[in-house]
Amino acid sequence: MASISIEGVKKEFSGNKVLEDLSLHIPDGAFYTLLGPSGCGKTTLLRCIAGFHETDAGRLLFDQDDMTRVPTHRRDIGMVFQDYALFPDKTVFDNVAYGLRARAVAKAEIGQRVGQALASVGLTTLAERYPAQMSGGQRQRVALARALVIRPRVLLMDEPLSNLDAKMRTQMRDVILDLVQEAHITTVFVTHDQEEALAMSDKIAIMDRGRIAQIGTPEELYGAPVNAYVADFIGSANIIPVTIESADPALSGDVRYRLGGRLLKGVRGQARFDENNAILVARPEELALTVADSAAANAVSGSVVRRQYLGFKTTYRVRLQDGPEIRVDLSAGGRSIDFHPGDSVRVLLPEQSRIIGA
Ligand SMILES: Nc1ncnc2c1ncn2[C@@H]1O[C@H](COP(=O)(O)OP(=O)(O)OP(=O)(O)O)[C@@H](O)[C@H]1O
Ligand SMILES: [Mg+2]
Repeated sequence: MASISIEGVKKEFSGNKVLEDLSLHIPDGAFYTLLGPSGCGKTTLLRCIAGFHETDAGRLLFDQDDMTRVPTHRRDIGMVFQDYALFPDKTVFDNVAYGLRARAVAKAEIGQRVGQALASVGLTTLAERYPAQMSGGQRQRVALARALVIRPRVLLMDEPLSNLDAKMRTQMRDVILDLVQEAHITTVFVTHDQEEALAMSDKIAIMDRGRIAQIGTPEELYGAPVNAYVADFIGSANIIPVTIESADPALSGDVRYRLGGRLLKGVRGQARFDENNAILVARPEELALTVADSAAANAVSGSVVRRQYLGFKTTYRVRLQDGPEIRVDLSAGGRSIDFHPGDSVRVLLPEQSRIIGA
């Protein structure tokens, strides 16, 4: 195991800049996720770490070791691909044994380590099967065992769960986390599924067109997104343009803003933002609804456009007076009143709502 440092890495393909001066530090033993939409450069960055791509500029370190020009087979990585990339003409045992044979490990030790690896992914009884005789989830476990059996310094996984059905996908999250925690191995995990990223990661780097948009723990990214791109990508967020009345310059200081003809209170979510182009970010579950004639503070008027009952919560679309449509989620546990399309309501905005630059 090792920490991974990426320092000012650039990569372009025939003039198309895919990674632009990208820097990241991945601590030893972390489960670190690269998250972003299709085409933002996640696979390209992972392949640079693996050594399948040469970088055009910058450095890559495992601990203090400069790996920038070290070939893939000497980087000591385990890799799991989206399509598993198993050898179709080898048995499960031989697939998992492959890396150990390539390293000329003694036969008895191979038998013992492959046996252990297969047991850890629950495939002991399938050792003599061929990949074509297995389900997607089983193949994925073989790929995991094959990557981990060599005890690599770092484990790289590119969308390893995206070919599985929804139920298997959530089960395999636990299998993966158990295995990498047991092995205490630094893991770089690529996904475009924000829920998977939140559920699994110690830290997440959100990428936007070859750059890092924000790095943080799942809680930091969900609770304090630095811009609309991150707020929108992680969970669902209401992104509401507001007019700033006054703003305390201190970070997290009070901000007074106008929305729907009212003067409301929020907090500064960013050290600096353009006061002429500010937005309020509020998660649907942070908002509440009350009756139209309520005297509640920090509230705006609106009318219910749609109501969707989902059992554990009810989701409302509400058009704000002189403002956009927003989403409000009321949990079933609360003492909330039920509202219906056409109802006039007041939307309560928390005073901790964050105002950031658009
Ligand atoms: N070998 C290559 N040659 C030319 N262009 C490439 C190559 N590999 C990737 N690209 C381009 O680089 C950009 C980033 O691709 P990449 O595969 O890294 O995206 P990604 O974030 O992994 O997307 P996805 O979620 O769809 O897998 C894309 O515009 C892609 O077309
Ligand atoms: Mg990809």
